[in-house]
Amino acid sequence: MMYEIAVIPGDGIGPTVVDAALPVIKDAGDAHGVELDVTTYDWRTERYLDRGAMMPEDATDQLADFDAILLGAVGHEEVPDHVTLRGLLLPIRKTFNQYVCKRPTTLFEGVRSPLRGYRGGDIDFVVYRENTEGEYADVGGREHHGYDNEVAVQSAVFTREGVERIVRRAFEAARDRSGSLTSVTKSNAQAYGMVLWDDVVDEVSEEYPDVAVERLLVDAASMDFVRRPDEFDVVVASNLFGDILTDLGAAVSGSMGLAPSANLNPDGPYPSLFEPVHGSAPDIAGREIANPLATVLSGAMLFEDLGEDAAAADLRTAVQDQLASSAAPRTPDLGGDAATAEVTADLRERI
Ligand code: IPM
Ligand code: MN
Repeated sequence: MMYEIAVIPGDGIGPTVVDAALPVIKDAGDAHGVELDVTTYDWRTERYLDRGAMMPEDATDQLADFDAILLGAVGHEEVPDHVTLRGLLLPIRKTFNQYVCKRPTTLFEGVRSPLRGYRGGDIDFVVYRENTEGEYADVGGREHHGYDNEVAVQSAVFTREGVERIVRRAFEAARDRSGSLTSVTKSNAQAYGMVLWDDVVDEVSEEYPDVAVERLLVDAASMDFVRRPDEFDVVVASNLFGDILTDLGAAVSGSMGLAPSANLNPDGPYPSLFEPVHGSAPDIAGREIANPLATVLSGAMLFEDLGEDAAAADLRTAVQDQLASSAAPRTPDLGGDAATAEVTADLRERI
């Protein structure tokens, strides 16, 4: 089987991790007769600085027919993040209706959690983050710039359809896993959108009597991600809460350098986008020490989405085995001193 894949390395450590991970991902495909035909796009902040736009105007048309998209990272010290993100990643998520942001949180064997007493396998949950609306809606404005009466309005937008589709996907995931779902809101303080969210969870839950539902406010959920991360299985949250909680999830499971994500358009017709959660990390950009494993694991999610489960499993097994081996190379975020390329060279031998 052959798939057309668009690759956008992007900014900062994005190109480092994508260049390193792609050969590993391709090896896993090759091992199962899966060929990836890659087209690389140089859409990044340097393009914005040269030509005034992160991507060409017809960028989403160019991407629309690919089977999947792999993204490194977006973000650059010379341009405010809200400009670069709104010029690349956010329009892709919204235009392609990638309403599920799926982010697994796994404490791998051989990786140390900053939390005392947790061992490999103890933390293993997945966050379903709403990815097209909520607090990320582009609704609001700013007036009277620089004056004392300056005003900024930023509206969160929750639609019944938008909430229902992510909640339903999360219930399906919970049913496939251990049958428990945690819905995170702040409906004590946000009495409109978040209460709509709670109502929809209640309604949809009636169709899933086999799934146990827990409702948490986001402040309590943050505490519990630290206090009892082993008890979560599937977590569903709004765009902003899902964003924040998945960084916390990555931290308690050892490193941002291990956290993959999938921005999914589950019902078609658009491609889904796969990316490491870590971002462009300008502080270590160009030093070739970025951890490529989050991108490799994003590649596994890409294969899974294409229905290529065997290739996905090969990537995951290689990563698991590498992390479990005390002799294997590790990047500094995991306490090692290996370069990015050493980690991927070792992985390629394992595949
Ligand atoms: C993420 C990132 C993005 C987000 C930023 C860079 C806009 O933090 O993918 O988690 O908040 O969605
Ligand atoms: Mn984030």
